[in-house]
Amino acid sequence: MTNIILFGPPGSGKGTQAKFLAERFGLLHVSTGDLFRYEMGNNTPLGQEAKSYIEKGELVPDSVTIGMLKNKLDANPDVKGVIFDGFPRTIAQAAALDELLAASSAEVDGIISLEVEEAEIVQRLLLRGKDSGRADDQDESIIRNRISVYHKETAPVFNFYDAKGKGHKIDGMGTIEDIAARLNTTVSAL
Ligand code: AP5
Ligand code: MG
Repeated sequence: MTNIILFGPPGSGKGTQAKFLAERFGLLHVSTGDLFRYEMGNNTPLGQEAKSYIEKGELVPDSVTIGMLKNKLDANPDVKGVIFDGFPRTIAQAAALDELLAASSAEVDGIISLEVEEAEIVQRLLLRGKDSGRADDQDESIIRNRISVYHKETAPVFNFYDAKGKGHKIDGMGTIEDIAARLNTTVSAL
């Protein structure tokens, strides 16, 4: 199995690039943000619980997120590997992921961080907010809170894997095509 974490702040292009990588390398794309939006769209109990956090730009509690992620992996036992997008976002989630993968003798092969300037990500998210319908894209103060939560709670996840020699940084500025080409080079070399 090849398991890759596509990492980076809100709006850095994880979802956009994960789709290309999943197709190119035959991997399952798992976005916890997309899974939560699906649950919210169907107004499930899980969706109702997640909504109150997501609308404020806060993280959904680890126990809820890890349970949902485990269900998704259990439902796809035969995949060649996974591109994780937006997960893990805390050290506790990273430890849980390592444990889940180890149960099938697999591991995280690499974490690739998309490096994008803050002014650019705020621009991208405000632009998307005009028609995305995402409550967390509508208001600059919520976007800024998502970025601050990223720095406080999520950025340490990169160091956690980097300390094991698994960290890679990619320039996430430029056209979608240029960034996709940089990612292909990095993933091919993993
Ligand atoms: P999530 O859905 O993961 O959102 P996010 O990380 O805040 O970031 P986005 O999905 O908005 O950005 P992205 O990096 O995927 O970029 P994209 O490709 O879309 O999480 C949402 C919320 O759910 C969290 O705040 C939290 O509450 C909860 N949650 C999710 N996972 C969780 C977890 N593990 N634990 C706890 N809570 C969790 O691109 C952004 C925009 O830019 C798009 O419009 C795109 O078209 C555009 N764009 C992309 N690339 C470029 C480019 N090169 N140039 C110009 N525009 C570009
Ligand atoms: Mg996304």
